[in-house]
Order: sequence, then structure tokens, then C-alpha cells
Amino acid sequence: MKCKRCRNAAAAVDLPSHNSAFCPDCFFVFFRRQVEVGIRKYSLLDPSDRVLVCVSGGKDSLVLWDILMEFGYDTEGLYIDLGIGDYSDRSREKVLAFAAARGKEAIVVDLRREGVPIPETAKRSHKEECAVCGTVKRYFFNRVAASRGFTVVATGHNLDDEASRLLGNLMHWHGEHLERQHPLLPDAGEGLVRKVKPLWRVSEMETAAYGFLKGIDYVVEECPMSHDATSLVYKEALSLIEEKMPGTRSNFYLGFLTKKGTFLNSLTGAETNGAPFSPGETSGKCTACGAPTYAETCGFCRLKEKAGKEAAR
Ligand code: AMP
Ligand code: FES
Ligand code: ZN
Repeated sequence: MKCKRCRNAAAAVDLPSHNSAFCPDCFFVFFRRQVEVGIRKYSLLDPSDRVLVCVSGGKDSLVLWDILMEFGYDTEGLYIDLGIGDYSDRSREKVLAFAAARGKEAIVVDLRREGVPIPETAKRSHKEECAVCGTVKRYFFNRVAASRGFTVVATGHNLDDEASRLLGNLMHWHGEHLERQHPLLPDAGEGLVRKVKPLWRVSEMETAAYGFLKGIDYVVEECPMSHDATSLVYKEALSLIEEKMPGTRSNFYLGFLTKKGTFLNSLTGAETNGAPFSPGETSGKCTACGAPTYAETCGFCRLKEKAGKEAAR
């Protein structure tokens, strides 16, 4: 099959959802354009931004860092070593090698050194690994950004991630989560830095193809703790639908963002009209660590305390 853009070279990437197929060069043009449109649509980034790119060693976040550098943004990478055995060691190696090849040095936070490696912290606090992991990662994303003068935190969530999250939120009628779900979470002052997801328009397959064709070396294995994560079930369900009806996933998520206002107004009674969720003022600073929080201590410090108490027993 010939590339549908240049009509010259052989197509290397088949995109049924766009009713298209591209040769590598034309696919690069297509992919970059999708990310550019995604950034521009909600003003996710500005050329004056200092961007903290959170990189796990997986394809999405390394592709994100690569493309933001290529677009000319001022970026640094942050890797959080979760303390999950060989998996974390291999991921760290990929991140450091990727950064070094581009003359960069990634910032590394080691959770073992911070006293909160995920497996042990989850066990001691009697919580799911993924829930603990989410709290801890969000905390350090924001803390590193705020303390080092970054204006925005970028993560590699792609269309598949966001669509499956949307399906999960709808299935359980999580009104508040639906309200927050957006590629842009504006900053709320008081050290709560803006969060953006520039890959929200591109699918997992497109990101994987881009990473592969660009020769980006990433960790292929999934986190060993995430095998029973419910998000994977929603992803599988959407993949099945997408296979039968190409374009449904994108229609589902992009439609949600467009119709979010009217839809949520009737669901929650709020007059959001589809604007990105505004986090509002936090009530103050965590009395233990100084992070912005709505309670007396932040979620991270409460978790750390709970895990610490259990360890002392
Ligand atoms: P996940 O929650 O694993 O699907 O990852 C979503 C995004 O969070 C990734 O694309 C990264 O941007 C970021 N992320 C996940 N794990 C890490 C990590 N260990 N260190 C830094 N960023 C991460
Ligand atoms: Fe968070 Fe595996 S990446 S528990
Ligand atoms: Zn705290």
C-alpha cells in the first residue's frame, strides 16, 4: 500500500481510525501535527514555560520529552524510582541513557531513599499499590516542580489512557473526577503547579509507532504491580470496540471534552460550561512538609505516617 499523503513511498503505519496510512516521514508530520494541535487547542504550553517532563522510561513519556525538545521547549526530565525491583532499575537506565544521548541529565527521586518505596508502603498502609503509587508520584511531580521553579508539569498520558479513564469514571458516575478530567489542570497558586497532558490526541499505537520509528529505546514491560489494575479492563473493552468501529475511541474522548459543559452541568448542577477544572484555593500548607493541601496534613504525609506506624509495630 502507498502512503496516502505523499502517494510515493510505501505505507509503514496503518491508521484505520483516520482512514489513512503513512510512510515513516509522513507519519512523523502527522504525529507532530496532532500533538501541536493538542497543545494549541487548550493553550497547554507557552514558549516561555519551564517544563518538567515526568518520564517513567516507557514509550509515552519518552516520546513526549523527545517531541517537546524538538518543538524547542525548555524541558527537564523527572524520573521517580518507585523501588519496584529490577523493573525500576531497568526503567531508570532507559531514562538516563535517553537523557544523556541528548546532553541532558534527568532529575531522579529515589523512593527508597525517601523512605516510601511503593511495595512496602502499600503493604504497611494496607492500600493498593497503584493507589499509593498515584499519591506519591503526584506529590513529587508537584514538589520538584514548585521547588525548582518549573512553571508546568507534563505527563505522557495518551488518548487510550484518557478514554479508558473516562469510561471508568462514567461507569461509576464519578462526577468530581469527570469534572477534573481534562488535558489541562490550571495552576492554583500556593505552589500547585499547572499539569498538562500534551499527548491527549494521539493513541497508544501511534505513540508506540512514533517511538519505534524514531529509534527511542524504552522499557517495553508493564509495571509488575499493575497486572490487575481495573484501568486495563476499560482499555481492553475500548480496544475491542475500536477494532470493530475505528475512530470510536477518539470520538468518545474528544466528544466528552467538547460536550463536557452541558453534560456536567446537568450531572452535577455546576455551571462549568466545559472549562478546565479550576482547583480553587487550597486551605493552606501541610503542617508536616509545607505542601499545599486542603487538610491539615497532605495526603502524602498521611500515607507516610500510616506506613511508618505500621513498620514500628
Ligand atoms: P501511568 O500512571 O503509569 O500510566 O503513567 C502516566 C504518566 O505519568 C507517564 O506517561 C509519565 O509521564 C508519568 N510517570 C509514570 N511513572 C513515572 C515515574 N516513575 N517517574 C516519572 N514519571 C512517571
Ligand atoms: Fe504505579 Fe506500578 S507504576 S504501581
Ligand atoms: Zn505533607
